Amino acid sequence: MTRQAIQATERFVTKLHTGDHTGHDMSHLERVRRLAEHLAEGMAVDPLVVTLAALLHDVEDAKLGRAKGLVRHHLETIALSTSQTDHVLAVIAETSFSQGRLPTTLESAIIQDADRLDAVGAIGIARTFQYAGSRGTPLYDPDDPSSAIAHFSDKLLLLADGMHTDRAKAIARDRHAFMTSFLKRFEAEWVGEDM
Ligand code: ADP
Ligand code: NI
Repeated sequence: MTRQAIQATERFVTKLHTGDHTGHDMSHLERVRRLAEHLAEGMAVDPLVVTLAALLHDVEDAKLGRAKGLVRHHLETIALSTSQTDHVLAVIAETSFSQGRLPTTLESAIIQDADRLDAVGAIGIARTFQYAGSRGTPLYDPDDPSSAIAHFSDKLLLLADGMHTDRAKAIARDRHAFMTSFLKRFEAEWVGEDM
């Protein structure tokens, strides 16, 4: 029953996320799931809620313009209990960084941490430029607040300090340091300091 629910959810998100070039492709969902399951190890959580929320967390992302209600409808088709359905929906509602909501359950803290870990480090850097390419925004322009480089100070450099679980804090520290050294190097090459 649990395996079937997960497999049906994998098929559901594969249909929606395959071919995405805005940083929300299937590999993002697979990494968030792996990170979330790692952060959840040994914790008093409902593992099914963690896995389903990891797979479903970007289905209704506002940037992707999908209809509200898709996730609830899917959860109803996989015969989840009402309390698990409500829990998955609550976790997803709390995931968004821009809405700034604090997690109200451990499952929610884990999904926030996992999603944010995938936005930092080498993969976070790669996803940022992929997103900028998909939106036609420049690599860097001091006069353009929508440039890819501006996104680092707007959001990515703030994420490490907001992690909830100890495991995520440790991973984030390392990924944050890598982004900082990338940005120093980017700036040096931008101004020609290394010539
Ligand atoms: P998620 O919820 O998975 O973190 P987002 O929808 O916030 O995803 O963004 C997807 C990816 O695109 C992330 O790696 C994020 O850092 C990046 N991104 C989001 N907004 C911008 C932006 N304005 N410029 C560059 N990258 C962005
Ligand atoms: Ni995400």
